[in-house]
Amino acid sequence: MTPNGVIQKKRDGGVHTDEEIAYLIRGFLAHEITDYHMSAWLMAVYINGMTPKEVLALTREMRDSGAVLDLSALPGKKVDKHSTGGVGDKTSMIVAPIAAACGVTVPMITGRALGHTGGTLDKLQSIPGFNPLPSPATVSKILKTVGAVIMGQTDDLAPADRRMYALRDVTATVESIPLITASILGKKLAEKTDGLVIDVKAGSGAFMPTMQKSRELARSIVDVCRAMKTRIVVVITDMEQPLGRAIGNALEIRECIEFLHGNTPADLETVSLTLAANMIRLGGRARTMTQASKLAYEAVSTGAAADRFRRIIREQDGDERVIDNPDILPHAKHVEEFPARSKGFLTRCDAKLLGLASNALGAGRNKVEDTIDPAVGLYLKKKLGDPVARGETLCEIHWNDEKRLQNALPLIKKALEIKARPGRNRPLIHAVLEG
Ligand code: URA
Repeated sequence: MTPNGVIQKKRDGGVHTDEEIAYLIRGFLAHEITDYHMSAWLMAVYINGMTPKEVLALTREMRDSGAVLDLSALPGKKVDKHSTGGVGDKTSMIVAPIAAACGVTVPMITGRALGHTGGTLDKLQSIPGFNPLPSPATVSKILKTVGAVIMGQTDDLAPADRRMYALRDVTATVESIPLITASILGKKLAEKTDGLVIDVKAGSGAFMPTMQKSRELARSIVDVCRAMKTRIVVVITDMEQPLGRAIGNALEIRECIEFLHGNTPADLETVSLTLAANMIRLGGRARTMTQASKLAYEAVSTGAAADRFRRIIREQDGDERVIDNPDILPHAKHVEEFPARSKGFLTRCDAKLLGLASNALGAGRNKVEDTIDPAVGLYLKKKLGDPVARGETLCEIHWNDEKRLQNALPLIKKALEIKARPGRNRPLIHAVLEG
């Protein structure tokens, strides 16, 4: 086998054997297959796709490219949740405490902002002192005592994915169903949980451009998990507009805390409780979705989930006072109101453009090494379908840097559209697949 031969086969629409995929991934890890070989192969996969058997072999190689966590000493079932990436998508900080409060163990491994989407780790790091990489001993202790930890990917977990993702990000090969499936599941299966809940986003702010593609991705994820004997629920949720009202790191943490205190936008509640209930069911704490939803709801209404979030923050060295006083989170120096130029109904609230606007303010990064401003972002006063009077505020812009504000304004202007009649309502939950 040669790198050239393997690339050529995929370029010409061939189907790889398991051995060819192993050769490629292991060779890449050993630096025998170079970044330019891998980039060419990624593009060939992007264009010609993979069979389900090839995706399975690739996922297995990604998982086995590094350490596999051993959580077998911990009591109870372990369940994690992952999202394919969205804007204002803050559900991880909500569902982990809810599921833990209901008796599920949640070893949540999460990522940073990239592209127009936000990153859970960046959001959590807006809490003063929060440690995203606790030691393995601390992780075990937190899981035993609190039931949930939210942490970054260590260097030894699925290292092939980290290097391949970095190449995909700069070679226009991110939006590929086989590559996304293997990337997400390579990491998630290395956690060796009993179950996974995956939130596949659909709409303007999702990586997948159409509902059809989001469904194909969901199907691909379910099929691989089934073959790997891991229980899985994939929920396809809407990402046409941002989820909830806040976009930006500290602003989103504030919204999560408000949620856990019982004050929440309806869309964030529906999506979060659906995901949490599925985690509770896969974690064996409820038999039906009705029971699981009731438990999830009670975890919020009794304050048990807020208490878990406080303990997660405390155990990961963050300032737990944030739960009672979110004002200690970083604040932007300026808050500017973005007004409606006409009256009518909000018919466009483009998640991708608003994510890019928030990044332009400094909330995200264009390159991995960029630093993030935790305080800046957007707060939507209006959501799709809302009636709007002329001059009324559509969103607040939390900003620190005049030049960045000027870069963000045209994106916000383009993202928000008002028409005389409201558009058709989109469902929040498009489909649920289980394997
Ligand atoms: N999230 C991942 O972890 N990998 C992808 O390829 C896309 C989203």
